[in-house]
Amino acid sequence: MLVTGNEILQKAHKEYYGVGAFNFVNYEMLSAIFEAANEANSPIIVQASEGAIKYMGIDMAVGMVKILSQKYAHIPVALHLDHGTTFESCKAAVDAGFTSVMIDASHHPFEENLEETSKVVEMAHSRGVSVEAELGRLMGIEDNISVSEKDAVLVNPKEAEQFVRESKVDYLAPAIGTSHGAFKFKGEPKLDFERLQEVKKLTNIPLVLHGASAIPEYVKDSFLSTGGDLKGSKGVPFEFLKESIKGGINKVNTDTDLRIAFIAEVRKVANADNTQFDLRKFFAPGKEAIKKLIIERMNLLGSSNKI
Ligand code: G3H
Ligand code: 13P
Ligand code: ZN
Repeated sequence: MLVTGNEILQKAHKEYYGVGAFNFVNYEMLSAIFEAANEANSPIIVQASEGAIKYMGIDMAVGMVKILSQKYAHIPVALHLDHGTTFESCKAAVDAGFTSVMIDASHHPFEENLEETSKVVEMAHSRGVSVEAELGRLMGIEDNISVSEKDAVLVNPKEAEQFVRESKVDYLAPAIGTSHGAFKFKGEPKLDFERLQEVKKLTNIPLVLHGASAIPEYVKDSFLSTGGDLKGSKGVPFEFLKESIKGGINKVNTDTDLRIAFIAEVRKVANADNTQFDLRKFFAPGKEAIKKLIIERMNLLGSSNKI
């Protein structure tokens, strides 16, 4: 059943567990997410970036989610716009049937971010849609970073409190040291959990971890064994994901893991038989790999059996 992001995340916030927010760019990724949720008995957030929407077409993206959420009617599903860059983009998503949107004005100064977010909140709330915003900049924290440098890129908890109170945003992504993609940390992985706890205490709303892919060893090995190159890649360790949940993270954004798991399988098929050109022979194992990874992630985040 299609529900608002708030409906899923308020429960996670009260019971201190995390819900995976999984990106999709096609039917295979999307159906893998639904099938995993069905097996794990977990709520899900399925999210599309502006790039993904351009690739699929907004009506196709919404249409696929609607059909699958009717098929799996017992699963609470929120359809979320990932990293909306403008008011217009958020409005187009709301108009098309998204039940949650992110306005990402985190690269603007605080006041501008607050103003843009408040505008989106007003529009989305009047239509019954939940809103996410981001504070701080998504960047890995390096070992020798100074306190002032840290303060420049990571979320400021006092600002977070003011931002949430004034914008009335439903959930917030505080930058605590993660980054997008496969290369998250140069040295040892590091996240600022103290800062996270402070933000949770001061805001008391669901929090979001962007750049949360873990790049599990077996997925990386699977990609490397096909001749793929992921030199220097580093994800968020599993213990860090667990620690984040304890610190108040409720929405766990995951895209890179799914991409790597899927493409490793495609590469395997291509390597094994260079005469193969049936798309299904490539995509079916890719979809299964995503499904397996998502079920494992749901168990780790604590969203399994929360329906
Ligand atoms: O946060 C970014 C997501 O992984 C989506 O990436 O813009 O390449 O679709 P994308
Ligand atoms: P990853 O690149 O770690 O999967 O992060 C995805 C994300 O934050 C989407 O918003
Ligand atoms: Zn993100």
